[in-house]
Amino acid sequence: MFSRRATSLAVLFVTTYGLLLGVSAFAGEDGVRAKETAAIQKPEPGSPGDTLTREDARMALLVYKLLDKNGKIKGADIKHGEKLFLQNCRPCHGGDGRRFNFSRYYEKPAFIGDRARDDMPTFWYQINFGDEERGMEAYIDEFPLQDLIDIAGFAQTLP
Ligand code: HEC
Repeated sequence: MFSRRATSLAVLFVTTYGLLLGVSAFAGEDGVRAKETAAIQKPEPGSPGDTLTREDARMALLVYKLLDKNGKIKGADIKHGEKLFLQNCRPCHGGDGRRFNFSRYYEKPAFIGDRARDDMPTFWYQINFGDEERGMEAYIDEFPLQDLIDIAGFAQTLP
């Protein structure tokens, strides 16, 4: 009899303690668990859950991993980027990137350097996926990711 009473007291104690600890203690734990699950929830490439297009994935990478808060490319080897730029981009864009002006005639001129500094998403999209209509090549299958990062970093130093 006594022991049954002790048991129910213990149960009462635990329940009350749980309530006193508050919902927040449990919610906190759930929050951590939710984050952990999200981190491992990346769908298998090519599976039905893998709905990001290649374009989406490349652009997301730029936003989440490659840009600092000032829009500068992180982790670029500028010297290597310069070498790649001179080999691959100079023939069309010129050594200083100023052969094509991307602005309309009534706007302030904008060259590769301006695009890379002021609008890296456009720059990044263009060097990855090109623009057939305008005659710009797609480089996503030509260069490893790190080379494109190096080129983008160097381009931000152009006039
Ligand atoms: C075969 C010639 C050619 C080569 C090589 C080339 N481009 Fe282009 N690029 C173009 C043309 C043409 C355009 C469109 C110009 C226009 O519309 O005024 C363009 C557009 C761009 C744009 C778009 C800018 C904007 O704001 O719309 C970027 C960025 C760019 N090129 C970067 C590069 C980089 C970096 C390289 C080297 C990895 C490169 N291009 C190599 C021809 C080339």
